[in-house]
Amino acid sequence: MPGAIYAEGLVKTFGEVRALDGVDLDVPEGTVLGLLGPNGAGKTTAVRVLTTLLRPDSGTAVVAGIDVLKHPNEVRRAIGLSGQFAAVDEYLTGRENLRMVGRLYQMTGKAAKARADELLERFNLADAADRTAKTYSGGMRRRLDLAAALVVRPPVMFMDEPTTGLDPRNRQQLWDVIQELVAGGTTLLLTTQYLEEADHLAHDICVVDQGKVIARGTSDQLKAQTGGERVEVVVHEREHMNGARAVLAGFGKGETTVEQHTRKLTVPVSGGAKLLAEVIRELDSRGIDIDDIALRRPTLDDVFISLTGHAAALNDEEVQK
Ligand SMILES: Nc1ncnc2c1ncn2[C@@H]1O[C@H](COP(=O)(O)OP(=O)(O)OP(=O)(O)O)[C@@H](O)[C@H]1O
Ligand SMILES: [Mg+2]
Repeated sequence: MPGAIYAEGLVKTFGEVRALDGVDLDVPEGTVLGLLGPNGAGKTTAVRVLTTLLRPDSGTAVVAGIDVLKHPNEVRRAIGLSGQFAAVDEYLTGRENLRMVGRLYQMTGKAAKARADELLERFNLADAADRTAKTYSGGMRRRLDLAAALVVRPPVMFMDEPTTGLDPRNRQQLWDVIQELVAGGTTLLLTTQYLEEADHLAHDICVVDQGKVIARGTSDQLKAQTGGERVEVVVHEREHMNGARAVLAGFGKGETTVEQHTRKLTVPVSGGAKLLAEVIRELDSRGIDIDDIALRRPTLDDVFISLTGHAAALNDEEVQK
């Protein structure tokens, strides 16, 4: 039986760009699918197709048991959507925004009010509840938009990069809210740039690149494919980079990646903290000074490099460095 979100062979082109190039998805009821991918991979396009906002060129999609192309209005009634860019009414207060959604979905005034109050509290917006949304910061708008998507507790939810722009505390709180929702039986498709987020929340992950699903599995499966942990070393002197590279080659389970401008070398390893100590001793015995050394789990970028042989598009943070 197909899951609560099901898609087969979705294709969507914009001129030359194949935003979706044959995407298949199957999300069992009550689970979370994390759609991961770099900028332009096709994540938002997939969400827009599945939420009836965009017609695919070909393929089929069934959400909550309803054919998306044949019965878009019925699908809309069964889903909640929080888009990549917050869609709140600027001229209404936070409280009014949430009550309005409740009323649109035929909740009684009393029920809409209670639900609005509860969500304002949950999303740390109670203090700002009676200010118009146009006075909200980016993160506050984002939270209001997410709260709006949760007013009616739909059985199937779509969240497009829900935590982009949230500070760590609010991100954590959103994760808690999502986990509660899913414990209550909601099926969720969320897109994210962060493997860590998918790690926390998603039962299954699909990695997309250039409109295609290039890998799928649980977070642990993807990381295992990527070759486990990484040792990351920043050497003090540029001229020591080759020496450090030779040392890491002796411990690594794969290619060493070298970042010249930051003097950083990264290599996949297995062996944990004990191995880290050995690497430090070896570097020391060769007189290679280091500024930093760390053992870390693979990131989305590592998954990308190992899956596609090229790095994911840089995110804004990296561009600024
Ligand atoms: N309405 C449109 N007209 C033309 N091209 C589009 C349109 N929507 C998306 N595209 C293109 O389709 C591709 C996929 O875009 P999409 O927005 O789905 O990516 P994304 O994975 O959501 O990226 P991001 O991480 O930046 O949000 C991109 O090359 C984009 O430029
Ligand atoms: Mg997007």
